[in-house]
Amino acid sequence: MTSIDQLISFIRTQYKTDQFIPLHEPRFRGNEKKYLMETIDSTFVSSVGAYVDQFELQMQEITGATKAVAVVNGTASLQVALRLAGVKAGEEVITQALTFVATVNAIAYNNAAPIFLDVDLDTMGLSPKAVEAFLEQFGELREEGCYNKSTGKRIAACMPMHTFGFPVHLDELISVCEKWRIPLVEDAAESLGSYYKGKHTGSMGLVGGFSFNGNKTVTCGGGGALITNDLDLGIHAKYLTTTAKQPHPYEFYHDELGYNYRMPNLNAALACAQLEMLPTFIDDKRALAMDYADLFRELGIKFREELPDTKANYWLMCVELNNKIEREEFLKVTNENGIMTRPIWQLMYRLPMYQHCQKDEQNNAEFLEQRIVNIPSSVR
Ligand SMILES: Cc1ncc(COP(=O)(O)O)c(C=O)c1O
Repeated sequence: MTSIDQLISFIRTQYKTDQFIPLHEPRFRGNEKKYLMETIDSTFVSSVGAYVDQFELQMQEITGATKAVAVVNGTASLQVALRLAGVKAGEEVITQALTFVATVNAIAYNNAAPIFLDVDLDTMGLSPKAVEAFLEQFGELREEGCYNKSTGKRIAACMPMHTFGFPVHLDELISVCEKWRIPLVEDAAESLGSYYKGKHTGSMGLVGGFSFNGNKTVTCGGGGALITNDLDLGIHAKYLTTTAKQPHPYEFYHDELGYNYRMPNLNAALACAQLEMLPTFIDDKRALAMDYADLFRELGIKFREELPDTKANYWLMCVELNNKIEREEFLKVTNENGIMTRPIWQLMYRLPMYQHCQKDEQNNAEFLEQRIVNIPSSVR
């Protein structure tokens, strides 16, 4: 039996099926139907309702953040997070090129430009060393914050992404950002249930954003949340995502450009039931990761595992092949056999809308781009 045959047989045994096995599919085994039916019966299916409030409280409890705000999707949470951090048109945001496009779109929706800096090989997320090196070369501290000497623009935020649920080196990143007075906004879309030194990802910067899209660890169809420990900022987030409407029993008055980014109560009902399952889901995913780790050790393939001081949710598990040729072979054979596997994203500066953006050398991002492949990671 070849290594890949052994892997295919292992995956089929885990999911007990000879049908197609996707990368990540949702599981509805708790109170999902009950809460949904209650919501329909209550007629409060839209953007106000008890489940929206309950979801926000559950997110506060899980992440330890002072305030959580439910929104329509993860992208919206990041767009608003950046605005709350003070990002304005014509400014710049440091981020990684090795990410899903939504991270960068959230910057562009604020009419700001990304600066792509390299990732660390161990975390696959934004490298504090790369950020420090860039700022040493191009940063200039002025009264209003940090400016990029090469463009003359203000660097208004730094947004790392916790790739596949593996936390970035947050302590080091926070210290560089503090030194250069750049607010940290965490793209925690993939990392619900992941911790760095005991603290939930998304809760260590100024604002963090999460996704509850269908492929995530827990889903509500489509949905997002932003979290912050700054209560005033959290209250402003709710206001901005609720069309910036001044509270009044019957008058409509909006004193800022807001958004209708509210999560419908129908989705929140699903989200509440799914969040109840989060500990069970994470336990199962972590157990699967340990089984994968044993198998890949035997097969001589590098399986990516959590780093010391972190607890990963193992949202999408992945292997690192030796080179692009091996990666192509792995993708071909697994997909031909009904096992979905997928290469990591193409780097963002390869996309037409971001190819002119400033970037550093990207040695690590390009190394990982050629070698990382996601493997089936659903709860069994
Ligand atoms: C890294 C990252 N950022 C942002 C998002 C956007 O989330 P959503 O699809 O809910 O808008 C996703 C997921 O889809 C993601 O993986």
